[in-house]
Amino acid sequence: MAQDVFTRFGFEPIRTPVMEEADLFRRSVGESTDIVQKEMYEFEDRGHTRIALRPEGTAGVVRAFIENHLAHESAVRKFYYYGPMFRAERPQAGRMRQFHQIGLESLGSDSVRADTEIMQALAAFLNAAGIRGAEFQINCLGDPDDRKRYAGELRSYLERRIGDICETCRIRMDANVMRVLDCKNPSCRDVVRDAPKILESVKDAYRAELEVVLGVLAESGIKGRYNPTVVRGLDYYTRIVFEVTHPDLGSQDALAAGGRYDLLVKQLGGRATPAVGCALGMERLVMAMKAAGDPASGPRIVVVALGESAQQPGYRLLSQIRAEGFDSDMDFENRSLKAQLRRAEKCGARWCLILGDNEIQKQTVIIKDMTEGGGQNEIPAGDVLGHLRKVLQ
Ligand code: HAM
Repeated sequence: MAQDVFTRFGFEPIRTPVMEEADLFRRSVGESTDIVQKEMYEFEDRGHTRIALRPEGTAGVVRAFIENHLAHESAVRKFYYYGPMFRAERPQAGRMRQFHQIGLESLGSDSVRADTEIMQALAAFLNAAGIRGAEFQINCLGDPDDRKRYAGELRSYLERRIGDICETCRIRMDANVMRVLDCKNPSCRDVVRDAPKILESVKDAYRAELEVVLGVLAESGIKGRYNPTVVRGLDYYTRIVFEVTHPDLGSQDALAAGGRYDLLVKQLGGRATPAVGCALGMERLVMAMKAAGDPASGPRIVVVALGESAQQPGYRLLSQIRAEGFDSDMDFENRSLKAQLRRAEKCGARWCLILGDNEIQKQTVIIKDMTEGGGQNEIPAGDVLGHLRKVLQ
């Protein structure tokens, strides 16, 4: 599914190593970020090089882009990837130490259309996965000058409210003041509500990009809004940033996130190349799909064999259905009809093929439509494949 959607948008697959030099992440994600300070799995290899299990995918893609000379003179390069990432966080629902991301990276375009293209590709993927209710929260962080100016303003504001902010945020005020903006502590949230907004500090041209993004999202029927507290926990971002939240995810509600990182390629030793990307958390995607009652994960056809003598013919039927290319399954434990139908219903089966002593004697199979109010009928065993072809193709 991901391959179909992302190929349609012109993205090519890329695979980068699970381990990289730890220094790559220090230089890209940022020395003072939580990821580098507290969450990287780091060790020394036999050659005494500091290695890290990758906490995210962007840094590795940029390194590969530079080292393998993947830049095309005039063309934008667009990549997608899928793989495990590692962060030593406190595990909870939606937050794992090993999780999986699908990521998109578009390198070489300065246009805000590259940002909207990334968002549209992500939205198309979510749509194909049956996710409804996701919301794009957009902010604009400007360039490093804008951010420096803003950090000063924010710090002076927070100093005036120092008594109302949490211990962690007091520490953040020195190292990474903008992270105070996405603190979940209720009292910090109150303080942040009246804080100066970064959008007021960024250059007019960048502010105009936010309008373009919101306009394109509205035109494409994608739910999105400006959210001044989206600041991202990685240092490489510039200009437009975003998070995609989903109401069914609880406290870890970011399904995906991304933004522009115009300075990173140069910072890691390549030629200055504007870039934008995003990554989606697969485990959170599955949580949202489950909450939406997604039945798509199970087989469409379940063979229900009743009694010992039906096991072998049932298994033969299962093999024939699979050989036809239909996804199908069967319970080998010879459980009751009720138990097997309940299991089929739970995994979202569309059809059940039931056979017991009676049907074997008559050489028939009962086809049960599992949709609500769907009936059942008995057909000759030899007609089953033809019938499935007709209803499923
Ligand atoms: P991120 O916000 O750190 O961004 O992660 C992206 C997504 O990965 C999150 O929205 C979430 O769904 C998922 N995720 C992160 N940490 C965990 C965890 N511990 N357990 C489960 N899921 C998690 C990045 O990683 C950037 N590289 C995104 C990007 C690509 N920006 C530009 N290009």
